[in-house]
Amino acid sequence: MPGLMRNTTMLTTDAIGASDVPHRTMIARRQLLRFFAGSPLLTAGSLGTIASLLTANPQQALAQSYDVLRGSRRTLGSDGIITSAADALDVFEFEPAAKKAAFSQEAPAHWGYLQSGVDGDVTRDANHTAYAKYNIRVRRLIDARKVDTSVKIFGETWASPIFLCPVSSLGAYDPEAGVTVARATAKRDHQMILSTVDNASIVDVNKAHGRPAWFMLYPTDDWNVTKALVQRAEGAGSPAVVLTVDRQGGRNTETLFRERRLDQRDCTGCHTPGFTNEVSRKANFADIDVSKVTNLYGTGMTWEFVDRLRSIVKGKLVLKGIMTGEDAKEALRHGVDGLIVSNHGGRAEESGQATIGVLTEVVDGVGGRIPVLIDGGVRRGTEVLKALALGATAVGIGRPYVWGLASFGEAGVDRVLQILDDEFITIMRQVGAVNTSQITRNCVTSA
Ligand SMILES: Cc1cc2nc3c(=O)[nH]c(=O)nc-3n(C[C@H](O)[C@H](O)[C@H](O)COP(=O)(O)O)c2cc1C
Repeated sequence: MPGLMRNTTMLTTDAIGASDVPHRTMIARRQLLRFFAGSPLLTAGSLGTIASLLTANPQQALAQSYDVLRGSRRTLGSDGIITSAADALDVFEFEPAAKKAAFSQEAPAHWGYLQSGVDGDVTRDANHTAYAKYNIRVRRLIDARKVDTSVKIFGETWASPIFLCPVSSLGAYDPEAGVTVARATAKRDHQMILSTVDNASIVDVNKAHGRPAWFMLYPTDDWNVTKALVQRAEGAGSPAVVLTVDRQGGRNTETLFRERRLDQRDCTGCHTPGFTNEVSRKANFADIDVSKVTNLYGTGMTWEFVDRLRSIVKGKLVLKGIMTGEDAKEALRHGVDGLIVSNHGGRAEESGQATIGVLTEVVDGVGGRIPVLIDGGVRRGTEVLKALALGATAVGIGRPYVWGLASFGEAGVDRVLQILDDEFITIMRQVGAVNTSQITRNCVTSA
């Protein structure tokens, strides 16, 4: 499956964000000193004082709107779409850029695959719009210039609470698939979860990521394959296996099917008929005998399967796709180590139920005994803060980083993370939280 063509403009210093503190501080200092150096009121002595003030409080000079006004003017392409990752103002600007990349590759079906929810995409959209049901309670007169965005999960520290969700078949959007994503996330020290059915293997992704990613498991209906997948991931050092439990019923990905109508390619060139062919293209199944596998998702899994898996997973076992307090409590009884509140980005069922709307139910269900993560519809740093305030330990993004990947490769993923990190830092400061443990339910209120 060929990767999409994309714009390849490299990141410039204009793209440096608050999370690149040392680099950005240097640029902010340089810009401010240049500004003051032009002032007739300044002597060499006072210039030295300003420089020392900036050194003492480097973050004071960050994220001011006039920094942007002093930079070079950035324009869009004639179609109104960004032409470089550095130019994106928010993650939404990557969406049309990714669509353009897909269509320039004559791959509308790949675009449809990424965007699709199920049925009328109501749940996909609700995941995002439901964040507007919560407002942020800001606090004043707290010095929050220096903030620590890190979170600790299973003894690991991540620099940011934003993690990258497992997305299958990233090879449709980048030739190196998960490996490219791993390089970008490693740079910013975010954690990522690799899908069983990515085009890159967990072994290669873990190498590129520097420290091992979590491995998301579609178990298949052959236990020997399940075991082999777990062994491969754990052998590559992955500290957590994430069992996705929300794809048991089949699905109507209508948006994909609609875009497929526009696709002139012969899709069977890659998507050869038969399950064996479909998975044997995927790197994580290399050298595993998949001849007895008939299904990847709808395997009729029950809690007994979770017990069986628990007995072979040596590291942490996480369930992805939990949406109720009842299932959260059941997971505790079965020795699960963590949960991800998720409806597969609205790609599992058309429930209309947004993940953020059920987060407290799940968090209260486990009563603080295991970490609860969440994904679905997160597009702003403010939404990351809302999710943490409502009890999430970390917050996943799916489509936004793939928009970045499809349009600008590694630089696109990097910029998506940078934007979200910067937005998150800004809102942390405004609520007066200097670290993530200070983000509590007190930080949000119903709209
Ligand atoms: C194209 C695509 C493929 C996905 N593949 C998987 C997968 O293989 N395994 C899985 O557990 N979730 C998968 N998901 C769901 C994501 O892990 C995540 O739950 C979802 O994308 C979060 O919502 P968001 O896209 O609105 O951020 C996929 C999502 C998309 C968009």
